[in-house]
Amino acid sequence: MHKKIQNSRILITGGAGFIGSYLVEELLKSSPAKIIILDNLVRGSFENMNSFIGNSTVEFIEGDIRDAALLERCIADADYVFHMAALRINACAANPKEGFEVMLRATFELAELCVKYKVKKLIYSSSASVYGLAQHFPTPETDNPYDNQTFYGGAKLWGEQLFRSYKFMYGLDYVALRYFNVYGPRMDTDGKYTEVMIRWLDCIRDGNSPLIYGDGSTSMDFVYVRDVAKANVAALVSEVTDQAFNVGNCEETSLKQLLEALLKVNKSALIPAYREENTVNPVSRRLADNRKAKELLHFEPTFTLEEGLSELSQWYFEKKTSALPI
Ligand SMILES: NC(=O)c1ccc[n+]([C@@H]2O[C@H](COP(=O)([O-])OP(=O)(O)OC[C@H]3O[C@@H](n4cnc5c(N)ncnc54)[C@H](O)[C@@H]3O)[C@@H](O)[C@H]2O)c1
Repeated sequence: MHKKIQNSRILITGGAGFIGSYLVEELLKSSPAKIIILDNLVRGSFENMNSFIGNSTVEFIEGDIRDAALLERCIADADYVFHMAALRINACAANPKEGFEVMLRATFELAELCVKYKVKKLIYSSSASVYGLAQHFPTPETDNPYDNQTFYGGAKLWGEQLFRSYKFMYGLDYVALRYFNVYGPRMDTDGKYTEVMIRWLDCIRDGNSPLIYGDGSTSMDFVYVRDVAKANVAALVSEVTDQAFNVGNCEETSLKQLLEALLKVNKSALIPAYREENTVNPVSRRLADNRKAKELLHFEPTFTLEEGLSELSQWYFEKKTSALPI
């Protein structure tokens, strides 16, 4: 139970999404007075909100953060704001204009309104994409962002800088969290980095050889979604402000190792098949240095990859079974 959350009013933009829905569950443990979720359901769903949609503390508003009047109504009596609504990296690349409207313009309006209504603290979902291919591994927050090549990474970095300037100009307290590769039940089944898990789970279910494109050495830092929700709570309850933090598991896992772990937790003896790499991934490595979050937010991830993959597999196979026609 966190005193700061108890009886407080909290807005979560994008709260019907993958990470947002776990954050709601985590916050409810500390008895807030109200949680308002503003989400247009472009990616989020009622299914994600199943465990709390009937809870009278939670108010779900189906709407768009680009609707300035609606955003103002949501922020007007919020003590705290978690800003999670965003387009996915692929969606930004497919439609940068929409990316601009959602990731930049609406985020700007949100910052203005947080100042206007004296929001006590804002927690911003940033991303390891701000680094592009980082300079150092493990990557500290001080690595520079000049190697990012994506609109999405650029937009996230701009968001961080926007809040930084609003802290400087208007005293708006904020923390930015740079998530690495988040995975777990309710995850996107066609995300840019993590979708490979879902493809392989399909292979395990159907008994087909899982495919690895290239030599399988591309690595990621997989952090379990419940840990990411806890990092958000830690960022809110701490006195820390005007800082960005990595949120990863601090373990570098190659695609080859990921597949081995997935086969192991599912007791599968399938043999992977290798294919020539057909796309160039400019980000061939990811590994977070979490020391800053540990020291200042007292946050440390708790889920091992195997534990997380077990929960993911169970969810995915149950979901697929329940979706079969009767
Ligand atoms: N999943 C990851 O690996 C990862 C990694 C780094 C950063 N992030 C960031 O974390 C946050 C949450 O990500 P997620 O994985 O839960 O993604 P998600 O797509 O499941 O959640 C985002 C939510 O925002 C909503 N949304 C999008 N545009 C909106 C709009 N215009 N108005 C209102 N709602 C809108 C979507 O419907 C969705 O429910 C995002 O900001 C994302 O960029 C995620």
